[in-house]
Amino acid sequence: MTSTWVSVLASYLHLLAVAVYLGGSVAMEFVLGPAQKFIPPAQAQVMGQKSADRFLALVWGSLALFPISGMLLLFSTSNQSNVSGDKFFTTTYGRTLFGMIFLWCVLVVNGLIITFVLRPRLNQKASGKGGGSNVSANLERAGKAARWVSIITRIDLGVAVFIVLLGASMAYGNGLI
Ligand code: HEM
Repeated sequence: MTSTWVSVLASYLHLLAVAVYLGGSVAMEFVLGPAQKFIPPAQAQVMGQKSADRFLALVWGSLALFPISGMLLLFSTSNQSNVSGDKFFTTTYGRTLFGMIFLWCVLVVNGLIITFVLRPRLNQKASGKGGGSNVSANLERAGKAARWVSIITRIDLGVAVFIVLLGASMAYGNGLI
């Protein structure tokens, strides 16, 4: 009975993380992004910056929740017997879980690139730090950074949609890979 409640809670948290990560990415990329083109550039920039900062907090929250709830889910059900020892690589369930964890690592690496490499470049654009000729160089760097953020966000979306397929195949079958 206790383990049933742990499974329900773990599953609830896992799906909540999926909803926040995927729903948030879709809203940022396909709703907020295109809408920004219809407001003056300076305002669009501040809005984009502030909303991206807030969204990144949600992204990191859900990325942290995935392994916690996922491990809880695994160890509160009988499925752990599918991944013990070398079964992690020899069963379809084990390999699918391995794929899920590997792709989660891809999302984390992409999140680190956006947070620590690309975001600071976007922020430079707003402050215009350096003045004079540096402003146009900063603008160009920021434009490139914005394009990379968009490309990486779309890659993350594709990866996350595929991970959901892996999850469904594990929850309602024996896995996919
Ligand atoms: C380290 C990271 C992760 C771990 C350890 C993990 C682990 C698990 C486990 C053990 C299950 C249960 C499968 C079953 O019922 O037999 C599961 C299900 C699932 N996972 Fe993950 N997962 C991780 C990351 C992710 C990510 C990043 C996503 C999506 C973006 C995701 C989406 C899902 C979905 C949709 C299910 C099916 C849930 C259901 O229908 O009940 N997981 N995961």
